[in-house]
Amino acid sequence: MNSLNPADEAYHCDLGTERKNLTPCTIVIFGASGDLTARKLIPALYQLFKEKQMPPSFRVVGFARREKTDASWRAELRTALDQFSRTKPVDEKAWSAFAENLCYCQGDLTDDAAYKKLEAQLTEFGSGPLRENLLFYLAISPSQFGEVVEQIHRTGLLNKEGAGWQRIVIEKPFGHDLASAHALNRELTRYAHEQQVFRIDHYLGKETVQNILMFRFSNSIFEKLWNRNSVDHVQITVSEKLGVGERGGYYEEAGALRDMVQNHMLQVLALIAMEPPVSLEAEAVRDEKVKLLKSIRALTPADVAEQIVRGQHFAGNVGGEARPGYRQETKVKPDSNVETYVAMKLLIDNWRWSGVPFYLRTGKNLPLSASEVRIQFRPTPNVLFAAQCGKKLDANAITLRLQPNEGISLRFNGKVPGLSLGVRPVRMHFSYDSEFGAYTPEAYERLLLEAIAGDATLFIRRDEVETAWQIVDSIRAGWEGKPLTNREFYAAGTWGPIAADDLLAKLGHAWHEPQVIK
Ligand code: BG6
Repeated sequence: MNSLNPADEAYHCDLGTERKNLTPCTIVIFGASGDLTARKLIPALYQLFKEKQMPPSFRVVGFARREKTDASWRAELRTALDQFSRTKPVDEKAWSAFAENLCYCQGDLTDDAAYKKLEAQLTEFGSGPLRENLLFYLAISPSQFGEVVEQIHRTGLLNKEGAGWQRIVIEKPFGHDLASAHALNRELTRYAHEQQVFRIDHYLGKETVQNILMFRFSNSIFEKLWNRNSVDHVQITVSEKLGVGERGGYYEEAGALRDMVQNHMLQVLALIAMEPPVSLEAEAVRDEKVKLLKSIRALTPADVAEQIVRGQHFAGNVGGEARPGYRQETKVKPDSNVETYVAMKLLIDNWRWSGVPFYLRTGKNLPLSASEVRIQFRPTPNVLFAAQCGKKLDANAITLRLQPNEGISLRFNGKVPGLSLGVRPVRMHFSYDSEFGAYTPEAYERLLLEAIAGDATLFIRRDEVETAWQIVDSIRAGWEGKPLTNREFYAAGTWGPIAADDLLAKLGHAWHEPQVIK
């Protein structure tokens, strides 16, 4: 699609930057020797620093068990940056200036003395904001969250009231069912207000996921169509070419439902289907997401049998590469019943969406890595073109491509040039890359910045987590005690079990393969 005239730039309005409230602060990373720190957190902070997005002054303290000095930690991170930085080569000048703010605190998470040492280290930064404004990033196992939160509270580093601000950032899994999520949330909020807890879902940091709200609520032409009167059904696909790889142990406990649906997919669904919020404030947006999640029709075990399809892949070939079956992966039980694929039909019992099926599917070892949302509109009355197309006249669709080829496409019918009256679907594409160039901040850059600024819009609130678990728990209850049947297996490199096609065929629908835009 052609770019707008540069004069149209006048219409550009930035809702983001002036909201930022970047006070000096210290970021304490628990689990600083881990993969996440080297792969995501430090590269994101370095990038923010390079782009002058960090607060005027800041420190990053890495807390972990292994013996390291400030210098050896910095050297390790510098090496990792060669691999994980979004922009290469690494800017040595920017890195050196950034690295001066990094220090290491050796300690065991269960040792009281280690927290005292941390407190002493923070006090060396003075008694001002670098000591009081603290962002605790818990890059550790959720089973350790409770202990760390209690310890930092006892050491006087985390307070519900008092000077400065303190926030806790955590990542999934937020429990493994509703009961454990409740317990975790209770632990976290014993020593911190819910407003101090920032739960990450990295999908919310993706540019295109954020664009869902812009697209829906800043364009009247689409907003008018966004309801049961015009929409026939919605498909949300998050397909992955990768298998579980080294993560067999984790995946055995999670499965596709907990790993992808409970969080990323229900978040995307909520943004696609929620009502307009009263403002863009965090609580307003999150209120609407919760309302939407609560209006998803509850599933009985009989509904689960009807509406939810699970699958597990056996060996196959993905893009020319041989892949083992899930049961042959390391740390996976040879008779595992864990699902590597799930497809579902959800119904939303509210005024806007009554009767419109929302189909969701995700899986490992599928033919493509692609995430997209397709809004399929109702067909026109097929009276005029029946002779040319029979029943096949294509219905209009809007596709939001979340990744890759980020963009939006509109599919409609056009006349095939020529003397006959041929009709064929054509597409109008908007692509991020051609419109805005390649600049796409990594999800962690945005999420860290928002957490530092104290804006919780892109983080998940307690009631969102718990409502999502209710949905997932009801599905798991339907599967309880039922091993996978033959119909539920699929070959790696295919689009999942046949049952997933049958699910849509019941209502005359079919999955659309994600678009690959050249
Ligand atoms: C993670 C899941 O949350 O999201 C992984 O644990 C999955 O299993 C990943 O591969 C997908 O994220 P993305 O950004 O690659 O789509």
